[in-house]
Amino acid sequence: MLKFPKSAAVAVLGLTVLATPAWADGDAGAGEKVFKKCSACHAVGDGAKHKVGPELNDVFGRTAGGAEGYKYSSAMVAAGEGGMVWDDTTLTGYLANPKGMIKGTKMAFAGLKKDDEIADVLAYLRSFSQSEAAVTPAAAAAAVETEVAPVEAAAAPVADQAVPAEAMIVEKSQGAFGLGRVATPDEVAAWDIDIRPDGTGLPPGRGTVAEGDPIYAENCAVCHGDFGEGAGRWPVLAGGHDTLLKERPEKTIGSYWPYLSTVFDYVRRAMPFGNARSLSDDDVYALTAYLLYLNDIVTEEDFELSNENFASIRLPNEANFIEDGRPDEPHYAKGLEPCMTDCKPGPVEITARAQIIDVTPDGGGDENAGGGID
Ligand code: HEC
Ligand code: HEC
Repeated sequence: MLKFPKSAAVAVLGLTVLATPAWADGDAGAGEKVFKKCSACHAVGDGAKHKVGPELNDVFGRTAGGAEGYKYSSAMVAAGEGGMVWDDTTLTGYLANPKGMIKGTKMAFAGLKKDDEIADVLAYLRSFSQSEAAVTPAAAAAAVETEVAPVEAAAAPVADQAVPAEAMIVEKSQGAFGLGRVATPDEVAAWDIDIRPDGTGLPPGRGTVAEGDPIYAENCAVCHGDFGEGAGRWPVLAGGHDTLLKERPEKTIGSYWPYLSTVFDYVRRAMPFGNARSLSDDDVYALTAYLLYLNDIVTEEDFELSNENFASIRLPNEANFIEDGRPDEPHYAKGLEPCMTDCKPGPVEITARAQIIDVTPDGGGDENAGGGID
């Protein structure tokens, strides 16, 4: 039942529209009705609390997944870490097709099919938002025209790590075109994980051979074999000692790799294959210790590897890698131009010919037979 004549309602609406001229299309009054579709899960206004979904006061300008005290899906957290901020463009995309825009969002809502329903509900929500994003006309225009790209949860390096909202307050780029924004310290830290041979970059942590054993059995053995021998054609991780001079050397961590830092870095960064970055730093220490054990580089099951003793472990083949000392060689040190013509003194003559034209070995399966072409 109407509490006042229709004409009065129109007059009130007229005032509202004048007060918020930035968004001409949306009708906050109509939006309040649309919001009934949201209110089972969301509250907005004085004293609004989180329900099934987060409260929506000041949602304009909020980083996606940024309301304090609400447990978001990792997809929403990842979208926020990827820099998504709620404004007319992003909200329009999300409300039209929540799961299409943020794959893996837990908002179980099919989306609003009509453009003016979206515009109206946004006008309504805007009246509970203080932020600049709520009143920028440019953003309003963009909402109708810009296609919003879907955000893949997997694109974020640390999808499962919740980042506090204050970490997301980011500086706008000062570059020539003003594009993008300065990466947050958390974003930089997520990528900056390389470890050098001297141990620089190692996270604090520890793990023993005995602890690594079950972690390896559960996460690695299916591909790399129980003892690092490699299942099927997956890479071999242990053994191969004394094969480097053979026709088909078996290059493993133990036989070939120069530095243990590569093992830690590689496993932490890329393994288990298909589920990278799922292990804790202590797990990676334990696995690295276990790989040393499989390669007979340590022999005690209670050997503990940590950031403290890491740099003291040497791999057997380190000495066979040589420093690239070219800058110190006399030729380069003197800054001479390389010789390009008539470099060999005296006349050029043929000293040898390739005798064996057919290079495929006759020996079949004999790995040490000569003549391989690889
Ligand atoms: C069935 C419950 C449900 C309904 C209905 C629903 N939502 Fe949601 N909404 C959620 C949940 C749950 C989340 C958290 C999503 C996540 O973490 O992935 C959410 C997230 C959001 C967000 C992101 C907020 C933030 O802090 O990042 C916005 C904006 C939003 N909803 C708006 C709406 C609007 C507007 C409607 C109505 C048109 C609506 N929702 C309908 C459950 C719902
Ligand atoms: C689903 C199969 C699979 C699983 C499970 C797996 N890996 Fe791997 N691993 C691979 C593949 C494939 C490569 C080679 C990748 C490449 O060369 O790009 C590899 C390479 C490696 C290498 C480098 C080997 C070399 O000589 O180049 C190490 C070390 C390694 N994995 C350790 C591990 C550890 C430790 C685990 C368990 C936490 C693990 N992997 C789990 C498939 C797997």
